Amino acid sequence: MSSSNFLLFSLTLLIITVLLPIPNFASASLEEANNLLKWKVSLEITNKSSLSSWMPLPMNSSASVPCTSWFGVVCNADGSIQKLNLTSSGLRGTLQEISFFLLQNLTRFDLRVNNFFGPIPPQIRLLSKLIYLDFSQNQFSGEIPPEIGSMISLEFLYLYSNNLSSSIPSSLGALTSLNVLSLYQNQLSGSIPSSVGNMSNLYRLNLAHNKLSGPIPIDLGKLKSLTRLLVSNNTLSGSIPSSIANLSNLHFLFLDMNKLSGPIPIELGNLKALTNFQVSENLLSGSIPSSLENLSDLQCMFLQKNNFSGLIPFELGNLKSLTELALSNNQLSGSIPLSLANMSNLRSLYLDWNNLSGPIPMELGNFKSLNILVQPPARHAPS
Ligand SMILES: *[C@@H]1O[C@H](CO)[C@@H](O)[C@H](O)[C@H]1NC(C)=O
Ligand SMILES: *[C@@H]1O[C@H](CO)[C@@H](O)[C@H](O)[C@H]1NC(C)=O
Ligand SMILES: *[C@@H]1O[C@H](CO)[C@@H](O)[C@H](O)[C@H]1NC(C)=O
Ligand SMILES: *[C@@H]1O[C@H](CO)[C@@H](O)[C@H](O)[C@H]1NC(C)=O
Ligand SMILES: *[C@@H]1O[C@H](CO)[C@@H](O)[C@H](O)[C@H]1NC(C)=O
Ligand SMILES: *[C@@H]1O[C@H](CO)[C@@H](O)[C@H](O)[C@H]1NC(C)=O
Ligand SMILES: *[C@@H]1O[C@H](CO)[C@@H](O)[C@H](O)[C@H]1NC(C)=O
Ligand SMILES: *[C@@H]1O[C@H](CO)[C@@H](O)[C@H](O)[C@H]1NC(C)=O
Ligand SMILES: *[C@@H]1O[C@H](CO)[C@@H](O)[C@H](O)[C@H]1NC(C)=O
Ligand SMILES: *[C@@H]1O[C@H](CO)[C@@H](O)[C@H](O)[C@H]1NC(C)=O
Ligand SMILES: *[C@@H]1O[C@H](CO)[C@@H](O)[C@H](O)[C@H]1NC(C)=O
Ligand SMILES: *[C@@H]1O[C@H](CO)[C@@H](O)[C@H](O)[C@H]1NC(C)=O
Repeated sequence: MSSSNFLLFSLTLLIITVLLPIPNFASASLEEANNLLKWKVSLEITNKSSLSSWMPLPMNSSASVPCTSWFGVVCNADGSIQKLNLTSSGLRGTLQEISFFLLQNLTRFDLRVNNFFGPIPPQIRLLSKLIYLDFSQNQFSGEIPPEIGSMISLEFLYLYSNNLSSSIPSSLGALTSLNVLSLYQNQLSGSIPSSVGNMSNLYRLNLAHNKLSGPIPIDLGKLKSLTRLLVSNNTLSGSIPSSIANLSNLHFLFLDMNKLSGPIPIELGNLKALTNFQVSENLLSGSIPSSLENLSDLQCMFLQKNNFSGLIPFELGNLKSLTELALSNNQLSGSIPLSLANMSNLRSLYLDWNNLSGPIPMELGNFKSLNILVQPPARHAPS
């Protein structure tokens, strides 16, 4: 807006403010209701019942109607819209016809599982009180607006299963209250910004199934609260940073289906809380570190389809919680250690396509049900 236009706009606002009675909360709410109605008109509603309660208000109505009887709408004590939840409502359309200016009291905005498409407008930054944003499982496209980085109240940001492209804006690093960042299954490219390491309250980070490239930032090792680090199925390269060993709350570490190279850092043996460790389908090499014996809660370890060499460390027999161990398609040599028979919870052991020699230890025959040397394991994919 040019400065003269801006002046005109400000003057108009001033005149309106002066001429009209000072709006009370009820009329603010009427404006907010009309904003939603305008948006509704632009939508294709495949589930007729979902927005049928969103009716134009009769002239004499009390404006609290949207608050008390509109589907998916919750207001604050002053009658302003605070929560909008249209999960799975059969809606198809865009966000072009909605005024974010009139939704500034929103704390929760949930459009999960619909057919929304087109861009996420940068004006979304106006929702400065928003704590919970879930636009997942739609067809939103274009970039993630960098302006989201100014929505510093955000604790939950779900944009997974859309068609978002371009790179992850580094401005998101300013979201220091964020607990969950879930961007999996999009078309995101470029590298993971190291500013993500500044989201000090993050406990779930899921960037899997995108087209991200470049290294895993060393700074991710600063995310002390992280319980899930999922970056499967990208084209990440470089080595696994040893800083990850500082993530002492990590349960899931999924780095599989990338182009990571170099060894597994010995320090990863410090990840005492780890239950699922997947680094399969990379270009990792070197020997399997015996320090992994210290991952005492580990249930699944998938190292298949890499270039690991050397012996299978006998120390792995100490992994008493392990139920699945996949080492297939590597360059491992030597014999199968007898100690593996000590993994009393083991159900599947995949050792095929290696350079192993010697007999299959008789002790492994003591297992009640053990699949050994069979097909590649099914992938596990938590969200
Ligand atoms: C239509 O939407 C309503 C409200 O979300 C929901 O309860 C109902 O199950 C939906 N019906 C269908 C057929 O999806
Ligand atoms: C609004 O007006 C209609 C008739 O035009 C009437 O039936 C209804 O009771 C009125 N509602 C209120 C809240 O006054
Ligand atoms: C929206 O409603 C669904 C169920 O209808 C619920 O599972 C979900 O948690 C709600 N979202 C928010 C943000 O409250
Ligand atoms: C937000 O709510 C407050 C009262 O809680 C109200 O004064 C204000 O007009 C509302 N703002 C918007 C943009 O709705
Ligand atoms: C996803 O976006 C790309 C452009 O970035 C477009 O070519 C493609 O058709 C879109 N796919 C869907 C399912 O919307
Ligand atoms: C992380 O935060 C620090 C301190 O707030 C700041 O100096 C630094 O530039 C930020 N790092 C990134 C990569 O944004
Ligand atoms: C990998 O991610 C792409 C989306 O980027 C998806 O189409 C494909 O199915 C995923 N592959 C696997 C094996 O999950
Ligand atoms: C782990 O954190 C400590 C202290 O924050 C730091 O000194 C150390 O360099 C980190 N370790 C790695 C491997 O990054
Ligand atoms: C496992 O942890 C113990 C205790 O911290 C340590 O003494 C041992 O060296 C570790 N094992 C390996 C193979 O690093
Ligand atoms: C795998 O490792 C062997 C040496 O152990 C090396 O010769 C080969 O180039 C490596 N292959 C790949 C794809 O890294
Ligand atoms: C199995 O575990 C027991 C007790 O921890 C130990 O004494 C034994 O040496 C282990 N067996 C092998 C083959 O490592
Ligand atoms: C693995 O065995 C094959 C033949 O069995 C041999 O050609 C290859 O050099 C061996 N590789 C390693 C890394 O030992």
